[in-house]
Amino acid sequence: MVKLELRELTFSHAPDRPPLFKKLDFCVEPQTCSLLATPLGSGKSTFFKLLCGLYPQFGGQITNGGVFLEGQPLEQIVPFERAKRIGMLFQDPDKRFCMATLDQQLTFVLENLQLPADQITAKKQHILQELELTSLKDRQLSTLSGGQKQQAALACVLATESEIILLDEPFANVDPTSKNKLLKLLLKLKKQGKTFIIADHDPSGYQDLLDFAYRFNADHSRLIKFNLSRSTLASPVPLRWQPLKPGKLTWKQLSLTRSNKLLLKPHDLTLPKGQLGLLSGANGVGKSSLFQALCTLIPYQGNLSYAGQRPPRFFKQRWAKKVGLMLQEATAQFSCATVQEELALVSQNTLAPHYWTKERFFYAKQALGLTELAHHSVYQLSGGQQQKLQFLSVLAMGQPVLLLDEPFANLDQASIQTCLTLLKDSCRAEQTTVLLTSHQRVGITEHLDYELILEEQTLKLGGYQT
Ligand SMILES: Nc1ncnc2c1ncn2[C@@H]1O[C@H](COP(=O)(O)OP(=O)(O)OP(=O)(O)O)[C@@H](O)[C@H]1O
Ligand SMILES: [Mg+2]
Repeated sequence: MVKLELRELTFSHAPDRPPLFKKLDFCVEPQTCSLLATPLGSGKSTFFKLLCGLYPQFGGQITNGGVFLEGQPLEQIVPFERAKRIGMLFQDPDKRFCMATLDQQLTFVLENLQLPADQITAKKQHILQELELTSLKDRQLSTLSGGQKQQAALACVLATESEIILLDEPFANVDPTSKNKLLKLLLKLKKQGKTFIIADHDPSGYQDLLDFAYRFNADHSRLIKFNLSRSTLASPVPLRWQPLKPGKLTWKQLSLTRSNKLLLKPHDLTLPKGQLGLLSGANGVGKSSLFQALCTLIPYQGNLSYAGQRPPRFFKQRWAKKVGLMLQEATAQFSCATVQEELALVSQNTLAPHYWTKERFFYAKQALGLTELAHHSVYQLSGGQQQKLQFLSVLAMGQPVLLLDEPFANLDQASIQTCLTLLKDSCRAEQTTVLLTSHQRVGITEHLDYELILEEQTLKLGGYQT
């Protein structure tokens, strides 16, 4: 059985930067599943890149110790051999694909492992069936929903059949039913001899798979084993919903079709204001598409209005002042180079200057840990830091309707709670209409007032009434 170890590893991203890890020891027990539950920006993605040999080959430097696979220094193993033995799923789904379709991407991945053609075909077929992705294999990857992309990326990693598999936030954007199905598949693979190390800030559903949970100590010199309580591992309770208050964003006979697939049958609703709503539903059901339609970014049938006014045909920016959208992919939405520039733009242009005063904006920046990142490039931030920056940028623009598409997908619990407090405070004070999607429910649903479930092309109220 393959053993992967860090021995007294000291690593820094650049010679003039202090080391991120100091004399760190870690040993991956074969045929186990370890969960890394560390706070945001604490270096878990760096840690993973070290474990699979991308660092220091493509960045940073090791000044003490090293990474060893069965006692052999990792850098002495040729890259394709290394990739065969250690598979890695990166956090950012859009950076994972270089081919147009999943079928082509799987071929590319398996060809890189220098497998013969007949094995490639068999492995592709097997993994597509295991993950129930066969129907998506020839679709353009860029047109898949967030969760479909995530599952496609997972398929590419599992197809390599590496003995050790590292997964960085593998279920971000994946719906709870698919997550449970995938966790069962990982358990099956573990029983067949695979070893998993997973970074996930949402440990719900892991009870059968998990052997160890780890977090870093304060100076990153040790990974500490700790116990996750059964209640943390269990699935969350359904949401209790409050009676809906009247609002201003209304649709009548709204229906949606995409890629020749009906996503929503004609439907009527007025979204409440001063309340936080959850839009839920399986991957690919049409949640992001509904948000895009409500922002008039994609075509829809039927009527949409805000306080009785239809979206203007021309002057589209007028509608953008009513309805704000946080996209599912955080990096797609930045307009400036640094954190400070991005935030200054928002602060100067907010539509709610009486609420988003300089003091309140300053406080929010501090609370989200963005103050000390002011001079960083937005593209050098960790996935979670980018998401917090985007969250504040959208929130502080102050539109009366806010649609947030998976705003918490890359965040740890502490950050989620800070975001929810900021969101709740502004929603109650400004009586804004807030609808968000989140496949993760732990620590979130208890703050929400109602749930809309998109299922069988229709929207229904979910949970139970208080
Ligand atoms: N740009 C696009 N072009 C064509 N089809 C698309 C495009 N984006 C999404 N689709 C398809 O439309 C359907 C709905 O996708 P959508 O992104 O709205 O789902 P979703 O409910 O947000 O899913 P997820 O939970 O995975 O985020 C899916 O079948 C998806 O593959
Ligand atoms: Mg989506």
